[in-house]
Amino acid sequence: MDWLYNEFKQTGKDYASQEEVEIYDPSHDDFRNIQQEIAHAESWIIPVPNASILDIGCGTGSFSIHFAKNCRKVYAIDISSPMLSFARAKSVLENLDNIDFIHGGYLNYELPDNSIHGVISSLSLHHLPDFWKEKALERIFSVLKPAGKLYLHDVVIPNEFPEKAIQEFIDLQGKRGGNFLREDTLIHFKEEFSTFDWIVQTMLKNVGFQVREITTRDRVLRTYLCEKPLEP
Ligand SMILES: C[S@@+](CC[C@H](N)C(=O)[O-])C[C@H]1O[C@@H](n2cnc3c(N)ncnc32)[C@H](O)[C@@H]1O
Repeated sequence: MDWLYNEFKQTGKDYASQEEVEIYDPSHDDFRNIQQEIAHAESWIIPVPNASILDIGCGTGSFSIHFAKNCRKVYAIDISSPMLSFARAKSVLENLDNIDFIHGGYLNYELPDNSIHGVISSLSLHHLPDFWKEKALERIFSVLKPAGKLYLHDVVIPNEFPEKAIQEFIDLQGKRGGNFLREDTLIHFKEEFSTFDWIVQTMLKNVGFQVREITTRDRVLRTYLCEKPLEP
């Protein structure tokens, strides 16, 4: 397909920059409680010893590393080689050898259909334009086992008063993390592809997921707990 979207081109924030990679964890600590997010993911994708997990857009690897402690295998995929190296170094410090770090993306990985117990997609799906988001979700659906779980967390635009929600979030981020986080959030909305909640929900349903729970923080940070049905 010679019109396949080039997902390896960084859009918005340049996560291929070593400087961005090194500042990522401390800057995110200013606005999110990653341990709480991981606990939420784990309450949905319950780790079991023989499970295989896919963490797509893994970044610095916080979810991958946590799940690897209680699962057989984690596939940690990202388009950014510096992110993967950073995540790999963190996993070595934890003596983990069951994470496969893969340079790839939502539209470019090969895993067998019906082979994955749970998928984590945290703050990364918005890097794709909408058509490609749905293609990415189709691929995730295919690799999940029946009854497999998807934890999808992202910046999503509310259907009601979207401009107000975006502006308030930008201002809030400025209060939390100063100019750095304000700029980061501006770039997010100016250059990346966060979309409406109704579009995300429609895509999840189109693909075949059952959406079991939706939670929202700061009006734009939304988590969708989704399940692949047992029967097609
Ligand atoms: C904001 S970070 C999120 C990292 C991590 N999941 C988290 O929750 O902190 C976004 C990550 O998605 C990666 N990314 C961007 N486009 C991608 C794509 N098409 N496929 C996979 N990863 C992608 C970026 O390189 C970056 O590491």
